[in-house]
Amino acid sequence: MNKFVITGGGGLLGSAFHDVLAGVDLTRLHRDQLQTETEEALIETIRFLQPSIVINCAAATNVEGAEQNPEEDSAANARLPGALARACKETDALLVHFSSTGCYGDWKAEPYVEADEMHPTTVHHCNKLDGEAAIVQSGCRHIIVRTGWLYGGAPALAKNFVWKRLLEARDKTEMTSDASQRGNPTYVEDVARQVMKIIDSGVNGIFNVVANGVVSRFEYVAAIVEASGLACKVRPGPAFARLAKVSPNEGAVNARLQALGIDIMPAWNESLTTYVHTLLQSHAWKTVSVHEAERISE
Ligand SMILES: NC(=O)c1ccc[n+]([C@@H]2O[C@H](COP(=O)([O-])OP(=O)(O)OC[C@H]3O[C@@H](n4cnc5c(N)ncnc54)[C@H](OP(=O)(O)O)[C@@H]3O)[C@@H](O)[C@H]2O)c1
Repeated sequence: MNKFVITGGGGLLGSAFHDVLAGVDLTRLHRDQLQTETEEALIETIRFLQPSIVINCAAATNVEGAEQNPEEDSAANARLPGALARACKETDALLVHFSSTGCYGDWKAEPYVEADEMHPTTVHHCNKLDGEAAIVQSGCRHIIVRTGWLYGGAPALAKNFVWKRLLEARDKTEMTSDASQRGNPTYVEDVARQVMKIIDSGVNGIFNVVANGVVSRFEYVAAIVEASGLACKVRPGPAFARLAKVSPNEGAVNARLQALGIDIMPAWNESLTTYVHTLLQSHAWKTVSVHEAERISE
């Protein structure tokens, strides 16, 4: 039976793995166990635990913040995966790591495939790419997942994009959203299930793992509001002014998964509709918005 170690278990994606891995032998490594003074201390932890699979969901995910504090971003996104990879190499564990479709950069109008060149345009995505390189260089068995535009998790999670849009739509009659930025809105539980499928298939290497279909941020937000039944009107708007020069095209296709016949990712709006309904039925929604919850259920 596989023995799993997971990092970043309290985050958006990490929390989805707890459900998918329910009942298996699972150890959760917390931030202080990862931020060790020496790499040897981290390797010693992995040596002691002897996992067969390490799922690394730990990452610094503030893309704007990385422009101002590149060192902190690099520690979590480049050096930590490198250290975990060397620990996995030594213990012959499989490392599952998460990177970003934003690493492809801004040089193509169509969705990116795994064979495309990587030309990241932000500090954060440069560090994510360095993390990928460190893993490959270590020689450990690895699955590197390039994903993007993740949603899901509990309403309380600070990065819950869908929840925030629902609250915004509840309070406004009209809102705008960026019509120029494109990507694949992707549900974290679908990613977790797809990762388990990749592991079970026994294949390694780099995989795009996104929901099927590339849409604009505006289409994404409009679909959230439409699924909610809230009366707010969503209109296309301009791009946000940002410090980080995020590529306007973060869209991807799961070319390798499709070639292997193991792409189980659904269409981009399939899980979104279900997730919006789940949030609207949650205690959090009812307590934050008694009036609106009553109106929707009419
Ligand atoms: N969210 C997206 O749209 C998106 C897009 C592309 C790629 N990804 C990738 O998907 C993976 C999961 O992202 P996510 O959205 O689940 O991120 P998240 O919600 O921000 O969670 C990140 C987790 O990493 C931990 N962490 C943060 N900084 C750390 C550090 N310096 N050392 C150790 N642990 C640290 C956090 O711990 P605390 O709970 O203690 O803060 C948290 O549990 C990441 O590799 C990310 O780059 C995400």
